[in-house]
Amino acid sequence: MSKIILVTGANQGIGFQFAKQLGELGHTVYLGARDIKKGEEAVAKIGLKNVHPLLLDVTKEESIKESVKKIQQEQKHLDVLINNAGIAKYEGKPEVDVDLLKDIFDTNVFGVVRVTNAFIPLLKSSSSPIVLNVSSTVGSTGFVSDPNTTANSFLSYAASKSALNTYSILLSHLLQDVKVNFVSPGYCGTNLNNFAGTLDPKDTVKLMVERVVFAETTGQFYDYDGSKLDL
Ligand SMILES: NC(=O)c1ccc[n+]([C@@H]2O[C@H](COP(=O)([O-])OP(=O)(O)OC[C@H]3O[C@@H](n4cnc5c(N)ncnc54)[C@H](OP(=O)(O)O)[C@@H]3O)[C@@H](O)[C@H]2O)c1
Repeated sequence: MSKIILVTGANQGIGFQFAKQLGELGHTVYLGARDIKKGEEAVAKIGLKNVHPLLLDVTKEESIKESVKKIQQEQKHLDVLINNAGIAKYEGKPEVDVDLLKDIFDTNVFGVVRVTNAFIPLLKSSSSPIVLNVSSTVGSTGFVSDPNTTANSFLSYAASKSALNTYSILLSHLLQDVKVNFVSPGYCGTNLNNFAGTLDPKDTVKLMVERVVFAETTGQFYDYDGSKLDL
């Protein structure tokens, strides 16, 4: 059955693949972009009538409010919210730059919280609502416990994904009628890592669409291939 889906940060990378592949399956997709021109260009590249650009900056309340209004007017409900927008920065030293930490949390954690809060009413109007938060293996306490973890270079980013994981689990308890899961999309070559990632987001998103997005579970941390990850 065709769903109404919003993907945040979808003008490039993993989010773009989510919008494209879900659109190709016939779902109505809102492709979120903080720069509407980039969103329109991405939609033109996809070339499907059922994929629409949506101005959405997850750090700006007003932008979120407008996007809720638009989807409310056009669809009356939202079936799937994919909180994908994210930023990362190499740090590699123990003295954390608190301004950077705040910026990263503002997008990766507070952004997800803001957008989710705002869309809860529209999600509750769906017969089978889903929230999928795009996290990372560096959000896993087990993963970062290795003294040589790659997360040592990205302390603020790893901390943000760890907070996102805890938020996702607790949200799954509190939002009993909504399935809330979170996923590691794999180490994909995208702008986020200067295309150093070894996986193609086309491939990992294909698996996430098949095995994770519409999972019947709630409160689960998935790897992109649908296997379960430890926290
Ligand atoms: N790539 C990996 O290996 C990897 C691994 C683990 C987790 N992840 C996660 O996967 C998600 C997608 O990352 P990606 O690799 O696809 O990175 P990407 O290519 O850099 O894409 C990130 C997207 O988020 C958008 N964005 C950033 N700040 C935003 C804001 N304030 N409001 C709205 N959109 C915003 C960007 O918009 P602009 O184009 O305007 O900058 C871009 O569209 C992130 O949550 C990331 O943490 C990625």
